Amino acid sequence: MIKIVNMKIAKDIVLLQLQDDETKYFEALWEIPEGVTYNSYVIIGDGDVIVIDGWKIGFGDVFVDEVKRVVDLKSIKAVVVHHMEPDHSGSLKTLLSNLSSDTRVFGHQLVKDMLQSFYGIKPNFVPVTDGMKANVAGKTLRFFHTPWLHWPDTIVSILDGKVLFSCDIFGSYGIPSALFFEDLSPSDQEKFIWYAKKYFANIIGKYVSWVLKGLEKLSSIGLDSIEIVAPAHGPLRRNVKTMATLYNRWARGDAEKGKVVVLYMSMYGFIEKAIHILIDELQKAGAKIKIHKFVDKYRSSISDMLGDLIDAESFVIATPTYDADVFPFAMLLLNVIISKIPKNKKVLIVSNFGWGPVAGKKIAEMLKTAGFTIVDVVEFRGGNVEDVLPRLREGAVKLLQST
Ligand code: FEO
Repeated sequence: MIKIVNMKIAKDIVLLQLQDDETKYFEALWEIPEGVTYNSYVIIGDGDVIVIDGWKIGFGDVFVDEVKRVVDLKSIKAVVVHHMEPDHSGSLKTLLSNLSSDTRVFGHQLVKDMLQSFYGIKPNFVPVTDGMKANVAGKTLRFFHTPWLHWPDTIVSILDGKVLFSCDIFGSYGIPSALFFEDLSPSDQEKFIWYAKKYFANIIGKYVSWVLKGLEKLSSIGLDSIEIVAPAHGPLRRNVKTMATLYNRWARGDAEKGKVVVLYMSMYGFIEKAIHILIDELQKAGAKIKIHKFVDKYRSSISDMLGDLIDAESFVIATPTYDADVFPFAMLLLNVIISKIPKNKKVLIVSNFGWGPVAGKKIAEMLKTAGFTIVDVVEFRGGNVEDVLPRLREGAVKLLQST
């Protein structure tokens, strides 16, 4: 059920949070049984008001009703659009239709055309440049361009040097039971670090070089004065440095020692039989194994799989050959892995075939071209797992030796 949180987070800032547990696939792609929130903020200045971002498309009327519960719409003099993805910009059209036409809309210059193409609107748009300051409602907002975190239009802003509106950056999936991360129980904090990692891998993972550049920019601005990090998803944070450190690690693909992700597809159990043998070997050698399987009675979550791969030392991909080609589901997994996962991982490929070995070689070529290191390709015919027992044992050793 959709829920709304409307609460002060500081003397002059109200959080308007839509808690969405109805979306099962974020971006119609990523599995999120934990739900997601869309966070907007209302800054109440000297009689005038600034609105920061909004809610997902489809919730425009509910959003405007909630804004009205906090301020008189006539007092809104500015709206800041940090990023145009419709999970944040989707309520803008309805909001702006209720405001004076001179309300200033701040955003990256790319936002102007997107406002028109997404929603057919041409507001009183003010393009912001990197480092630009704007004085609105007796407050100072300073804008910084953080391209590709998550789109090229993404900006962050800092209010009076103390509150960082970070949009997707430092955001997470999940519906928190407290406004601030630091007020969650230790077990919930652990969960929300996982949700943030999974969100990072799914949404921002493709742009890790930009993440490192963005973090460098934020640290050169100086984060010491920041008292509140106000992202557009998930809990707010008082401590910006913890997340900045985690983002650095995830963007570099820093590995948890001995972590091996095993992902496999098995149509009739032959691959699964080989994988059980391999897992046994890896366990005996002390590997920390995470398994994601895609079989006839069960499918792992692709979004969880990516979250696990980010900090793995290595991974195994095991799949049948299908129609004399790579198994179609493996193509989907390979596409997202190549797009979203840092390439400093070693890979063991296991594959079987009925009449011709194809998948193993093709997968090896794809992953090698992308920059991963292939330690071995183990292929067997049909269910003849016994034929490759020594190769599987050898593969496990190579995988762990190479890490
Ligand atoms: Fe949460 Fe890229 O939008």
